[in-house]
Amino acid sequence: MELTDIIFQKGTIATLTVNRPKALNALNRSVLEQITTVIRDIRHDSSVRVLIVTGAGDRAFVAGADIAAMSDMTTAEGLEFSRLGHRVMQSFEDLPIPVIAAVNGFALGGGLELAMACDLIIASEKARFGQPEINLAIIPGFGGTQRLPHRIGHARAREFVMTGEMFDANSALAMGLVGQVVAPEALMPAATALAQKLVAKSAVALRQAKAALRASFTMAEDAGLRFEQEAFGLAFASADRVEGTKAFVEKRAPKWGHK
Ligand code: CAA
Repeated sequence: MELTDIIFQKGTIATLTVNRPKALNALNRSVLEQITTVIRDIRHDSSVRVLIVTGAGDRAFVAGADIAAMSDMTTAEGLEFSRLGHRVMQSFEDLPIPVIAAVNGFALGGGLELAMACDLIIASEKARFGQPEINLAIIPGFGGTQRLPHRIGHARAREFVMTGEMFDANSALAMGLVGQVVAPEALMPAATALAQKLVAKSAVALRQAKAALRASFTMAEDAGLRFEQEAFGLAFASADRVEGTKAFVEKRAPKWGHK
């Protein structure tokens, strides 16, 4: 598939940039399908160790699902659009590698939902977040009603989903939605620095950490605690665990084989 609306730079640290700056990087069907193609590529290439997701231009990460496209959709098409969006968001969570959202501007509606499907979020001081769908007489349709309460708590999530009001980067930091807020020009360097820290870890352990952290969202606590034990066992079965614990005892840096 030709990538017309996204830019994909492949590497140990790969970058996916939603590239429709004139529409503030709004997500239409074509963008979502192109993202699907790229995610499939990453899944089958173990040389990609971290993915950074961002938006083109200096105004928006993603300002939401494409409203103009939605205005022409039938009910059945709208439902199918939501299903496609959900599959795409889940495909980021299903990747075995960490995904970092570098939020450079508006992250609204489907844009906030995209950021929340990533493992780690870094925001520029210019970032603005929100679920403004209520103003269009719709509701978040790519996972926001479920992921936002999990990230910032029910009280605030209800307020934002029901009022549609936006919040800024420092509020997002205070609420625990984002891990860092940096100056706009420092955003990609900060995302890359974080990605480099992750590249220096064992990919096997990171995969299990991501899976177990996700279980805290998708499972009841007792099932999640059991899941953690299985994930710990899988990490423990790796050659990297033997190397990591041995290197500590021998007071040297570990050399990961990512196996
Ligand atoms: N879909 C399609 N086009 C969009 C868009 C969107 N979500 N957001 C912005 N654009 C377009 C605008 O239509 C405009 O295009 P033209 O230049 O052709 O007129 C261009 O991007 C620039 O936007 P504005 O002129 O509106 O810029 P602004 O600075 O005045 O306002 C903004 C910026 C506050 C982000 C405003 O654009 C806005 O409110 N956008 C919509 C935000 C929104 O409601 N997002 C949720 C969408 S629904 C959704 O996402 C559902 C879901 O969960 C799946």
